[in-house]
Amino acid sequence: MLKIDHLYFSYNNVKNLLTDINFTLNDGEYISIIGSNGSGKSTLIRLILKLIEPTDGTINNTFKNMAYVPQRFNQLNIHFPITVREVLASYKKVRHNGCQDISEVLNLLNLKEKEQTLIGQLSGGQCQKVFIARALLGNPDLLVLDEPSNGIDVKSRDEIYELLANLNKSKKMSIICVEHNLQAAVKNSTLLYHIKKGHGHMCLPERYAQEYIKNDLGDIKC
Ligand SMILES: Nc1ncnc2c1ncn2[C@@H]1O[C@H](COP(=O)(O)OP(=O)(O)O)[C@@H](O)[C@H]1O
Ligand SMILES: [Mg+2]
Repeated sequence: MLKIDHLYFSYNNVKNLLTDINFTLNDGEYISIIGSNGSGKSTLIRLILKLIEPTDGTINNTFKNMAYVPQRFNQLNIHFPITVREVLASYKKVRHNGCQDISEVLNLLNLKEKEQTLIGQLSGGQCQKVFIARALLGNPDLLVLDEPSNGIDVKSRDEIYELLANLNKSKKMSIICVEHNLQAAVKNSTLLYHIKKGHGHMCLPERYAQEYIKNDLGDIKC
């Protein structure tokens, strides 16, 4: 379980980005975090991952093994001459133990036939799937993704969402996903967390869909 109470966060140059955030994810839930650009979604997940510290408030986290798929290609040098299998094998070497079999994970992502391909030769969607494969290698109990379908082809996008829904439903994997794809958020998540002007609101996907349809500017109150 992950429980955030009265969390506040400011950057030096962005005061009160997040104010009095209260957020609970129970084991097995899939929460999509939504909100406009710059509202603090990526910051919230960096706080959850303990990459940064809150200005105030608490985060209690009982998950033992979190995996993170960052916003696409932030940290990827696509000219580095390394194959898909080598990316996964080097990750496995660093983690030492508790890893899943590489071939199994490649099959899960429909990437088996690309295992000897250099990452620089993959499409954006295939590359994103390699990052997801890498995250899954460690057998996470909480998978955290930041806009996984941003700018990728429709086929990869559909495969990624089918996989996430399946991991959540059949393996009971807990998922937090920053999402700009509202349709995917409504379809797959158990709950939505909407951040607006520093504040957050948890709401049910069906409720959000009704409100969203009512107001096609997407200015939602939940
Ligand atoms: N490391 C940082 N230092 C200072 N300001 C930052 C940093 N990261 C993000 N910001 C600022 O904080 C705000 C929220 O950013 P972010 O959490 O990335 O929003 P979102 O993911 O919702 O688009 C933006 O105004 C952004 O410019
Ligand atoms: Mg972001």
